[in-house]
Amino acid sequence: MKILVTGAAGFIGSNFVYQQLADHPEDQIVALDLLTYAGNLKNLDGCKDNRQFSFVKMDIRDREAIYSLFEKERFDLVVNFAAESHVDRSIEDPEIFLQTNIIGTSVLMDASLKYGVKRFHQVSTDEVYGDLPLERKDLFFTEETPLHTSSPYSSSKASADLLVGAYHRTYGLDTTISRCSNNYGPYQFPEKLIPLMIHNAEHDIPLPVYGKGLNVRDWLHVSDHCRAIDLIMRNGRTGEVYNVGGHNERANIEVVKTILKQLGKDESLITYVTDRKGHDLRYAIDPKKLESELGWQPQYTFDTGIKETIEWYQQHRGWVEEITSGDYMQYYEKMYGNR
Ligand code: NAD
Ligand code: DAU
Repeated sequence: MKILVTGAAGFIGSNFVYQQLADHPEDQIVALDLLTYAGNLKNLDGCKDNRQFSFVKMDIRDREAIYSLFEKERFDLVVNFAAESHVDRSIEDPEIFLQTNIIGTSVLMDASLKYGVKRFHQVSTDEVYGDLPLERKDLFFTEETPLHTSSPYSSSKASADLLVGAYHRTYGLDTTISRCSNNYGPYQFPEKLIPLMIHNAEHDIPLPVYGKGLNVRDWLHVSDHCRAIDLIMRNGRTGEVYNVGGHNERANIEVVKTILKQLGKDESLITYVTDRKGHDLRYAIDPKKLESELGWQPQYTFDTGIKETIEWYQQHRGWVEEITSGDYMQYYEKMYGNR
């Protein structure tokens, strides 16, 4: 099979490319990315000499370029990771989220229809379901939970999901959607909670915890997410949505304290800052459909995964330092300077 992976130089996309090359040596992978602030070609350094792999720098919103790529390559399968992915940035400036996450997805689906792609897989998020109350530990997101978004980011992702459903029903495009909970692991951009807290703790910079730190996220190691996508895009039923999560709920403050403890740093580094606007309280995924239909099970517990992840960031300080110099410093000052 020839597979197009968009957003391949980002966090999850790059992990996915490595996993595909290792697990499916019979397939060809074309990795596409615009290389925005979040895309880093160094994330794909380890596969640049692999004959199964090629890279193209392209914008998923650029219809002409996308059409000529699809005409030339005749993909069997498209998996769309490309997105603006950070909630705080979407609150500052929603426009690019609508352009990339909605329009970009529709361009890819138009191309898929025009050039006979056999399956289009959309990588979505549990944030499309909104949030759950903190005190109702018995409630989980299922695939039937209504879409009820909070941020411009989650609204753009939900809009894309609705479009995917429309292309399936109206034009007969073969589609699947995965909705995963929070990922962590190697190559995550340090604007996100876990790598940001590791970086700050290592440099004795205050750790900015939003509100009281009681919001709950359901953490999944990126490799478990990638294995789920692999199963869904190859074996999932057409037109279906699959939730992905491993029952690893943690309050943010617990995650931050775990990081400080492993790094041998003092909790006095924790600084409570102004809460995120519209901050979702709790995410929790019910993954039963994925487990029973496709036999997926997570391989990581949070305790093992976070330990390994902290070690990865310690061993890849150069990767982090390169990103956290320059533009990142301006971003950090803008978002956290007066918080
Ligand atoms: P990321 O921000 O690390 O990577 C996104 C990639 O998309 C970057 O490499 C960026 O350069 C690329 N991109 C952005 N705009 C583009 C465009 N117009 N054309 C081509 N490429 C473009 O994000 P991530 O955390 O790896 O997330 C990947 C996908 O998974 C997203 O769709 C996100 O919504 C979804 N998701 C993420 C999580 C999570 O916890 N990180 C959880 C569930 C779902
Ligand atoms: O649930 C899946 C989603 O998870 C993905 O769709 C998004 O792309 C991904 O960014 C992530 O969204 P979150 O908003 O949950 O992730 P983030 O790492 O930004 O924040 C996690 C929690 O930590 C959230 O409750 C906000 C809090 N937080 C975050 C940052 C960056 C802090 O307290 N301080 C911070 O500095």
